[in-house]
Amino acid sequence: MSKPYSIVVLISGGGSNLQVLIDTLKSQRLDAKITAVISNVVDAYGLKRAEQHGIATEVLAHGDFLSRADFDQALQAKIDHYQPDLVVLAGFMRLLTPEFVAAYDQRMINIHPSLLPKYRGLNTHQRAIDAKDTLHGASVHLVTAELDSGAVILQGEVPIKIGDTAQILAKRVLAIEHLIYPQVVQWFVEGKLSFIGQQLCYEQKPLQQPLRYTADSQ
Ligand code: GAR
Repeated sequence: MSKPYSIVVLISGGGSNLQVLIDTLKSQRLDAKITAVISNVVDAYGLKRAEQHGIATEVLAHGDFLSRADFDQALQAKIDHYQPDLVVLAGFMRLLTPEFVAAYDQRMINIHPSLLPKYRGLNTHQRAIDAKDTLHGASVHLVTAELDSGAVILQGEVPIKIGDTAQILAKRVLAIEHLIYPQVVQWFVEGKLSFIGQQLCYEQKPLQQPLRYTADSQ
């Protein structure tokens, strides 16, 4: 029997995206396992979620390291122990060194709360409101050395409504994140996402632009 597809999830906070991944792997009966959840924040609530589901947890407090490179090397050692097929960043709020990113080329993904390439970095919701955008959303993308710049796989849109605050909008975006992230992970597990050289393919065809989430994406 082959080993189940191994997924390591990195978090820094509440882990609501982690939770939907846990739930999806269970409900879809995928031959995949979250082999570890690793946090750079000691009291991240997502660690509790993992423990409740019997998933191994590790904490690596970035403050204990002298440099970003030292932290990333230690993180890489922890991740590699679990031999992941896929590394999933789920609210992991760290800038990553190019060496670390290279170690997981084509097998590390992130979810970002904006319609990339708009609003890389932080405070995405307020920036979208300030720009008087009427559409906002979330993007699942490959992780590359440049922040929030890897190929976007799937995006989900939400409207920005009159009177929205960043907090209200964040909630609306989080709800769409909870639909698109498990979907992309499922595609990886099922082998629907692959590479020809550096080119990302969906169902064997080059993905020229991000897929859009619709109710029948599933
Ligand atoms: C999510 O909104 C995710 O998009 C964002 O952090 C939140 C984590 O929520 N990530 C980033 O901003 C990364 N640049 P969660 O801990 O409840 O999953």
